[in-house]
Amino acid sequence: MKAIIPAAGMGTRFLPVTKAVPKEMLPVVDKPVLQYIVEEAIAAAADEVVVVSSREKKAIEDHFAPDDALIATLEAKGKDALAAAVKHAGELPVSFVYQDEPLGLGHAVHCAEQVAGERFCVLLGDVIVPGNNILPRMMEISDAHGGANVIAVLPLPDEEIPRYGIVAGTEVEPGVWKVNSIVEKPALEDAPSNLGSFGRYLLSPRVMEILATLPPGAGDEIQLTDALDAVLSEEEMYACVIDPSDGFDTGTVPGWLAANFELAKRAGMV
Ligand code: G1P
Repeated sequence: MKAIIPAAGMGTRFLPVTKAVPKEMLPVVDKPVLQYIVEEAIAAAADEVVVVSSREKKAIEDHFAPDDALIATLEAKGKDALAAAVKHAGELPVSFVYQDEPLGLGHAVHCAEQVAGERFCVLLGDVIVPGNNILPRMMEISDAHGGANVIAVLPLPDEEIPRYGIVAGTEVEPGVWKVNSIVEKPALEDAPSNLGSFGRYLLSPRVMEILATLPPGAGDEIQLTDALDAVLSEEEMYACVIDPSDGFDTGTVPGWLAANFELAKRAGMV
């Protein structure tokens, strides 16, 4: 399975920090956000991880490149654990494609169309899942339904609903919904449920084909949500309701701070 991580956004919610540092490189405790996500994809059996980046975000590529000189320096000083951590980051199987225009999340995913032809997963660069436990659950649900599409959803408070893709559907077993439709960033009064898609998608090759010709939607951007809604007329999709303690949205300053605090607490640091 291939994994796609869209990471080309400008990080405007974190300016001025993100003027020079890509938001995917911000630390959560001791690792950049993006490294958690790459490791999660690999833990879920992805054999290739394609990061959709922007040519300005050179720091991302530097992080995943080998650095023999740094490793040698650290080893010479007896800092073997740090040398191993640097070596590990440089050995992760990450490749890069570029989104040269900010045309939306659907467009970013389509920039990695090299994965077309097989089931693939999309992991949004904002969301981290430190326990790596959501994609395996989604794969179980997909396998139980003949390889259906599966997305992760989170129950949301009212005020957050207009920030997410919201699903309509019926619960088929505890925590699993069969999706009938999905709408990007509806007004609260138009939202069909309180379940918002939350950064993890397990998708069929048909979704990639649909993205190739999809017109712009909400915000005048090519929306992944619109491709998901379109594929519903041909294929099944299930929504896996995740536990809020399993995933963190690090895409806002309060979310990023909360992720740092919670993971530092779990590590016994605070
Ligand atoms: C994106 C998606 C949206 C999803 C959200 C959180 O929105 O378009 O459907 O619910 O991520 O995973 P963004 O946060 O990029 O505006």
